[in-house]
Amino acid sequence: MKFLHDLKDNALDSNGWTMMVPVYSISKASLNAYTRLLAKKYPEMLINCVHPSYVSTDMRGILTVEEGAKGPVMLALLQDGGPTGMQVVTGANKGIGLETVRQLASHGITVVLTARDETRGTEATRKLHQLGLSNVIFHQLDVLDPVSIQSLAKFIQDKFGRLDILVNNAGASGVVADEKALKALNIDTAAWISGKGNHLVQGIVTHTYEQGEKCINTNYYGVKRVTEALLPLLQLSPAGTRIVNVSSCSGALTRIPMNIRNELGDIKVLNEGRIDEILLKFLHDFKDNALESCGWTMMAPAYSISKASLNAYTRILAKKCPEMVINCVHPGYVSTDMTWHGGILTVEEGAKGPVMLALLQDGGPTGCYFDRTQQAEF
Ligand SMILES: NC(=O)c1ccc[n+]([C@@H]2O[C@H](COP(=O)([O-])OP(=O)(O)OC[C@H]3O[C@@H](n4cnc5c(N)ncnc54)[C@H](OP(=O)(O)O)[C@@H]3O)[C@@H](O)[C@H]2O)c1
Repeated sequence: MKFLHDLKDNALDSNGWTMMVPVYSISKASLNAYTRLLAKKYPEMLINCVHPSYVSTDMRGILTVEEGAKGPVMLALLQDGGPTGMQVVTGANKGIGLETVRQLASHGITVVLTARDETRGTEATRKLHQLGLSNVIFHQLDVLDPVSIQSLAKFIQDKFGRLDILVNNAGASGVVADEKALKALNIDTAAWISGKGNHLVQGIVTHTYEQGEKCINTNYYGVKRVTEALLPLLQLSPAGTRIVNVSSCSGALTRIPMNIRNELGDIKVLNEGRIDEILLKFLHDFKDNALESCGWTMMAPAYSISKASLNAYTRILAKKCPEMVINCVHPGYVSTDMTWHGGILTVEEGAKGPVMLALLQDGGPTGCYFDRTQQAEF
């Protein structure tokens, strides 16, 4: 308005406006400013402005239109923050999930940090913003709650219209520990991880049927629910879909009773219906106090079968969706609340596997199990 007022008053020169195409000049300067405002308002979008140079069109110039279009085309095809753009991490208010968000957001990727608890999730997001990671957005997600899952799917649909990466990290251990007594035991980590230290923690690490059921519902059915709800958005990814299921070495087939191990390990016969049956059998044995006599591991038994089932689901999904890159990963024995801070790795080290798999190139391994960053046997 000020410019137009000065133009009307024939006062452009006296008020310091350029006399070299003054209207064109202020219109483009305003366009640049608007570009910056819009980019600030929508940090999840890539919004830029470009001078195509002095192009020979109806306006006179020295470059061809092919040369002049190069800048706009390059900006139109910019990748979101690198190899892939839009990502969801579940159970990300703390531990390995939070660190996975931090590392991926540091690559410039827009990450939706999700947590079941609004306050814990908002606080975690605020901390990442303080580190300068304004590309992290919070949304509530309880993987046990279908309404919460639908709400997340709608949020992503409305805001981004697609999803590139899903990291299913949320998990429950299915056990309760007397932390003080556990620390006092000072158990050898190797024995603990291998599952051979179970007799040492009798009465210190306990599990109930209810905890076991919740563990399976979180670690297996929770991942399935979230994945199935987000699959239509993942299928729209122009950058190539990545799904990372955070599993555990506790789900190794060697810890599963032999007859079931053979089925869970055979991708040719595996199907989701059979996994449901196996989980029902496990819960039935649990209720009958028959876990040990039926050959189930007594070291976090529900956790073990939940993660073995998750690995099997990962393979089934990878077979069903060969155009996607879908893998599961044991992050290592990491110091988090889940391990009562007895783990030997930092969260930075623990997040390396999930992050590496989230950033795998097209044509990378799919339907595989990784022990940290190395492909390993199921
Ligand atoms: N730490 C290890 O050594 C280790 C080893 C092998 C595998 N893992 C796997 O790594 C993943 C992350 O574990 P972590 O060690 O980082 O444990 P953690 O610090 O205890 O984090 C677990 C996360 O899962 C969330 N969660 C639990 N139930 C949920 C639900 N119903 N909906 C949404 N979020 C839920 C928790 O939220 P709240 O804060 O609200 O409880 C928390 O954010 C898990 O899948 C775990 O099985 C860990």
